[in-house]
Amino acid sequence: MVQITFVEPSGSSTELNVPEGWSLMQAAVTNGVDGIVAECGGSCVCATCHVYVDPERLAEVLPPSEDEIELLDGVKAERRPNSRLSCQIKATPELAGLTITIPECQT
Ligand code: FES
Repeated sequence: MVQITFVEPSGSSTELNVPEGWSLMQAAVTNGVDGIVAECGGSCVCATCHVYVDPERLAEVLPPSEDEIELLDGVKAERRPNSRLSCQIKATPELAGLTITIPECQT
């Protein structure tokens, strides 16, 4: 299990123990974390699972694919240097303790 903290749009945080190999989107949706829509179910075509990765730890997350970079151009909330699609980030032991912030809107 990999401990990840999700900061919801309301400002409240939820700490989850995510099974290794699960995407952060999958963990958030399965556990009722607010603010991730995930319309495409993780197929990297909708961009409604946009999150901000803790900037201090951004380098520890595997870099985005070309497809993800393209989709990030179309996110509804402000795109930042630490913007990522949470369906494309897999829980690995290296990410233990990571904080993910969910933007106010996805669509
Ligand atoms: S769930 Fe659709 S792009 Fe992530």
